[in-house]
Amino acid sequence: MKTNIKQLISQMTLEEKAGLCSGLDFWHTKAVKRLGVPNIMVSDGPTGLRKQDQNGDHLGVNDSIKAVSFPSGCLTACSFDRDLLRMEGEVLGDECQAEDVAVLLGPALNIKRSPLCGRNFEYLSEDPYLAGELGAAYTQGVQSKNIGTSVKHFAANSMEYRRMSSTSNMDERTLREIYLPAFETTVKKAKPDTIMCSYNRVNGTFASENKLLLTDILRKEWGFDGFVVSDWGAVNDRVAGLLAGLDLEMPASGGDTDKQIAQAVRDGKLDEAVLDTAVERIVKIVYKFLEGRQKGNFDKNAHHLITAEIAKESMVLLKNDSKILPLKEKDAGQILFVGAFAQKPRYEGGGSSHINAFKVTGALQAAKDAGLNIKWQQGFDIKESKAKDAKLLAAAKTAAKKAKTVVIFAGLPDSYESEGYDRSHMKLPANQNILIEEIAKVNKNVVVVLHNGSPVEMPWVKSAKAILESYLGGQAVGIAQIDLLFGRANPSGKLAESFPIKLQDNPSYLNYPGNGTVANYAEGIFVGYRYYDKKEMDVLFPFGHGLSYTTFEYSALKVDAKKIKGGQSVVASVKVKNTGKKAGKEIVQFYVAAPQGTECKPPYREPRPKMELKGFEKVELKPGETKTVTVTLDARAFSVWDESLHDWYVPGGTYQILAAASSRDVRLSAKVEVEAVQELPFRVTPNTVFEEIMENPKAFAAAKAFKGGPLSDTEQPQEKRGKSARESISEEMQLGMLKSLPIRAMRSFNQVSQEQVDAMVDALNSAAKGRS
Ligand code: BGC
Repeated sequence: MKTNIKQLISQMTLEEKAGLCSGLDFWHTKAVKRLGVPNIMVSDGPTGLRKQDQNGDHLGVNDSIKAVSFPSGCLTACSFDRDLLRMEGEVLGDECQAEDVAVLLGPALNIKRSPLCGRNFEYLSEDPYLAGELGAAYTQGVQSKNIGTSVKHFAANSMEYRRMSSTSNMDERTLREIYLPAFETTVKKAKPDTIMCSYNRVNGTFASENKLLLTDILRKEWGFDGFVVSDWGAVNDRVAGLLAGLDLEMPASGGDTDKQIAQAVRDGKLDEAVLDTAVERIVKIVYKFLEGRQKGNFDKNAHHLITAEIAKESMVLLKNDSKILPLKEKDAGQILFVGAFAQKPRYEGGGSSHINAFKVTGALQAAKDAGLNIKWQQGFDIKESKAKDAKLLAAAKTAAKKAKTVVIFAGLPDSYESEGYDRSHMKLPANQNILIEEIAKVNKNVVVVLHNGSPVEMPWVKSAKAILESYLGGQAVGIAQIDLLFGRANPSGKLAESFPIKLQDNPSYLNYPGNGTVANYAEGIFVGYRYYDKKEMDVLFPFGHGLSYTTFEYSALKVDAKKIKGGQSVVASVKVKNTGKKAGKEIVQFYVAAPQGTECKPPYREPRPKMELKGFEKVELKPGETKTVTVTLDARAFSVWDESLHDWYVPGGTYQILAAASSRDVRLSAKVEVEAVQELPFRVTPNTVFEEIMENPKAFAAAKAFKGGPLSDTEQPQEKRGKSARESISEEMQLGMLKSLPIRAMRSFNQVSQEQVDAMVDALNSAAKGRS
């Protein structure tokens, strides 16, 4: 950096410094003209440029410049493709350079806890590993163009309902294993220039005032060195926020909070050094942008086609019975498209990520452009939802009877899902469900193409031969749909979230959204497939599922070590062959299945998911071609967050490494023995049970030496006990009962005094300091 920022700051007045900690308006930071310190502009994000000129707002209400709307996060995540997300980031970074935008407000990395969250369409996944890998790739792409990103919304902002006041309450393990890792990976791998703190409270403390999140974890543990910006309007107590690690308040505060900061310094309540640090972090990013300006590129037509490519790589073929897809181009004249979305697709969500698309290509238009002459019936009214649209339905049915294949373009209307509020159910509008069922009665060859930002229930799933999930596909959605439907491209996306059969199946169902004040994340770490798999529940479509027009065979799963110590990594590889007739791409998923409870050495009783995604790669294969896919499974792939250690812990035992085509389609497995090397804290109290003691070799030895206790070697041998006792209570039963007895029970059952109980507790504590 050419500019000496510390020196600049030393020349600023208290008021100038305080002023730099809030926005000039909706989208700009402040300048300090006296010292020649310039300002920068930030804009939403994440999937296009929502650059507003004058009347700024955070909900996409007022217009922004004509720009390019990229596919939403719900779709791009299904690509499982780091290179694709990096490329998207690069293109967006170029657009920002061309438009003088220094920081793009994204990526949005919150975990999809419930299908109801109004903003799920922006978020990537229910799985923190996937969200983190893709979030990091996108961030690297944008920042490679010397544009900052603002990774949001940090943290635990998984619902819109009362998002500015409610608290997301959860245990430490859930926070660390589910809601933080996507941010952690992005911070560590991609070094984002800024992080946006969320609106909500986390365990009672506003994210904007949360020192644990903004300083202890983000900076001290993960090494973040950019600035933290508030979500728009997320500031509650400005001075508390600054002390906790919130650097920039957005948007403008009308000067009030600037005055509060200056006053707090004057009153001695805020160390001026804290303010200086915040200012330094902000100004550093301002100069980073200005000193590394690039020409940029905002070729809208070229970027329109790039969005089609991204959508094509991401859409998910959920079902394809009797290989009804791909459709044949020569049959175009006998194919009927039905549905308002074929003509006017839903391609993006509402709120701050809403882009003013310069053009939109739906499926009908794309078919025409591809020289395919396809008939169309509207079928339903997007606005109508409760009853069937009699006239539209009748016309569609008549046309459907004559068609060879009917493709129905269904989906959620804009009003069903948006930033700012949640959905109240998971259903498509009734008129669309009726239409699909009715058309299926007159034509057996029904294909459904969906436009939605989050899973929907599909009561008609058996009536449709094929289902293409196109989510919110960006402004060139139709091009991708036509290419995939007609086999010009081969589908290669897989679901980044589970589709439950019905809303009630979702693990957060009983606690979502909570009582309005508290959102209790009671399902803990069992989010998405972690829950459905553990419960062995049927789902509509599982996490990681997606079909192709070709087939893939997995073989030769290898792990480079049979035994490792906790903290070490392994490299796993598997061969994948394209066994079909078309070129295609396969997303190879690696899950780790940890030993549970007493399978661990030493036993570790915190519940663990059946298996968790810890690696993936997407490979392109020609017919007959084989490639080897290799991933590294690092220490984290085996770890749990242990609340007694307040750190990651790798339990010992046999782990399975699974190579899978989806979370419900495991193809191969291999074993790795892991030796636990960390000691967990072990403190004996009168309420410690004998099982815990027996599992700790040192404590066990000390307990055996304790005369008169139930584990004592001098205990009455079995053969000396009375006949009836021997017959009715086996040694096994005795042991079973003993395991759950606390030490203090010796007083009641072994004629041991309180003094002896205390002595045993002391003796065991000094014998065994750790658990292993
Ligand atoms: C959203 C952010 C967005 C900001 C600015 C807020 O309402 O939560 O994601 O970046 O507005 O538009």
